[in-house]
Amino acid sequence: MVEISGLCVNYRDEKGNTFTALGDVDLNIPRGGRLCIVGPSGCGKTTLLLAMAGLVQPCAGSVKVGGAEVTTPRTDVSVILQEYGLFPWKTVYENVALPLKMRGEDAGEKVEQMLKTLGIDDKRCAYPHALSGGQRQRVAIARALVSRPELLLMDEALGALDFAVREQLEELLFSLWQQRSLTLVLVTHDLDEAVFLGEKILVFSEKGGAPELLDNTADGKGRDSAEFSEMRALLRRKMRGESV
Ligand SMILES: Nc1ncnc2c1ncn2[C@@H]1O[C@H](COP(=O)(O)OP(=O)(O)OP(=O)(O)O)[C@@H](O)[C@H]1O
Ligand SMILES: [Mg+2]
Repeated sequence: MVEISGLCVNYRDEKGNTFTALGDVDLNIPRGGRLCIVGPSGCGKTTLLLAMAGLVQPCAGSVKVGGAEVTTPRTDVSVILQEYGLFPWKTVYENVALPLKMRGEDAGEKVEQMLKTLGIDDKRCAYPHALSGGQRQRVAIARALVSRPELLLMDEALGALDFAVREQLEELLFSLWQQRSLTLVLVTHDLDEAVFLGEKILVFSEKGGAPELLDNTADGKGRDSAEFSEMRALLRRKMRGESV
């Protein structure tokens, strides 16, 4: 689904100096895969996600989605950023219907279904300011999924929520992934979230260098299992750059 090879992304600072945010990343995510990306602040996680979304351009290497080079945002890819990106002047219903309206598609039934799935149908007429953080997050997920994307990219999207709501939404995401043939890529600073949702986990180390792709040996094992704790401990050591 996603093929990244030799990806390098540079930014220019205010003085015009070039800064390399990502240097030489290789990554393959199969269709229907679940990848979590973890690493220290500033290591390039968001940049990698934006490159997959076609929102930043590589200075070298390539990013392909579904076999085609990504140069601009695609309609079959949805992105949820940390700030949710809801329009404050639109109701819950209008926010969720937006991607379909923009494509000139009929919204009614699909939006109703999505609101029900996410448990926010009683909030359809509310504006975002009158919702809790968890409800806003559900609206963002509903809006991202209503157009039935092939690929869902999420950047620290559950970060601002308390742990109970967060775990609930993680479980919801997992079941949505099961129901649809969705490919999921999730950036998180929460190692539990990475172990719960990742089939594979891409780890950037504090020491720099290329990120390492790990198989999540605790995938599907449950949060209280020994495998879960072991995997979380392994991630922590890898992030610190310790040899394991
Ligand atoms: N638009 C930009 N212009 C210049 N530099 C940028 C820009 N966006 C990001 N950077 C720099 O690129 C590096 C990687 O940023 P990125 O946002 O990808 O990190 P991150 O891993 O997502 O960090 P965090 O965990 O804090 O969100 C950082 O050093 C950041 O300062
Ligand atoms: Mg980031």
